[in-house]
Amino acid sequence: MGIFEIKAGIFSVGALHWDRRLFDELIPLPDGTTYNAYLVKGSGKTALIDTVDPEKVQDLIDHLNELKIKKIDYLIANHAEQDHSGSLARMLELFPAAKVVTNAKCRDFLKDLLLIPEDKFITVQDRETLSLGSYTLEFILTPWVHWPETMVTYLREEKILFSCDFFGSHLAASRLFTEEEEIVIRSAKRYFAEIMMPFRSSIRTNLEKLDGIPISMIAPSHGPVYTRPDFVIRAYKDWTSDQVKNEVLLPYVSMHGSTARMAGYFTEALMRRNITVKPFNLTKTDLGELAINLVDAATIVLGTPMVLAGPHPAAVYAAFLVNALRPKTKFLSLIGSFGWGGRLAETITGMLTNLKAEVLPQVLVKGYPKADGLKALDQLADQILLKHQELKIT
Ligand code: FEO
Repeated sequence: MGIFEIKAGIFSVGALHWDRRLFDELIPLPDGTTYNAYLVKGSGKTALIDTVDPEKVQDLIDHLNELKIKKIDYLIANHAEQDHSGSLARMLELFPAAKVVTNAKCRDFLKDLLLIPEDKFITVQDRETLSLGSYTLEFILTPWVHWPETMVTYLREEKILFSCDFFGSHLAASRLFTEEEEIVIRSAKRYFAEIMMPFRSSIRTNLEKLDGIPISMIAPSHGPVYTRPDFVIRAYKDWTSDQVKNEVLLPYVSMHGSTARMAGYFTEALMRRNITVKPFNLTKTDLGELAINLVDAATIVLGTPMVLAGPHPAAVYAAFLVNALRPKTKFLSLIGSFGWGGRLAETITGMLTNLKAEVLPQVLVKGYPKADGLKALDQLADQILLKHQELKIT
């Protein structure tokens, strides 16, 4: 990433990972990512806020060397996940007098995951402050903004919020600051969908906690820095709300064309009713695209053929993921085709129990869809329209 001086004595010293394509061996990263770390030099003490993924530790070391940093007093750990904490041990080797400053839960994770000894820690409470001389850091506990120990660090004098995963985006970019908000907000939404959505209600609580704090800039540990933080805070309030949109998400898989024909017919049936529909062929879809569209959709209709007496494994994988991501979906249904028999609907609906969604009648046809099957799809589209009208979102 190079070094950026954000304000006097406050530097971005983290690393870009342009070609990382998978996070947690699960999440696609079409735009790479960044691990932002921030050096804050006060008149008395120096702190490093978060580190970088261990794979990129040399970038961090090079940046600190370039700034001729001989002493770091505090290593602030906002989050124990290794993409931010994984270089702490190396930092402690280079700066043996430094203390790791974090909350009790994060301290315990770091002892457990990274084997950092107890005497290296300074443990802080919610809203506790740490003086660097000319700068003051305040620690605000924001549990479950990914893991249970997550916190953010607020630099009082400059009103900068170092938010770690909160408001982050997996987006490698050569500029530090958000200039193209449309692009950044899409990456931030994708990030929210993949990382934050399961913790929607905790995030809502934490947004309320931040409400009274004046923020001039949000400096997350992934993606660009927000110089106009309002727009991402507003977006988070929308994404975490219970408000849904007049949209149907239609992930489907088809082996011999019957379920694909149903998905195609159903897509047009919804379009004729002015419902936004997003069909995703599961064999060709980036799962991140599926996730981002889960954020707002009122309804999910999953399409799958019967295979080996149950749903297609691609549909099972999608259902498992949707259930884990816990979107605010209000309605759920299933369409598909079978040859003889099996347990398709029971298996899929049994996998989606995290969703607080009303299950609408499914449309399962024998073989290729015929007139009565297509009519049933029209009836399902009518029912979805009615449900969306009741929510006043059409
Ligand atoms: Fe970027 Fe939850 O770590």
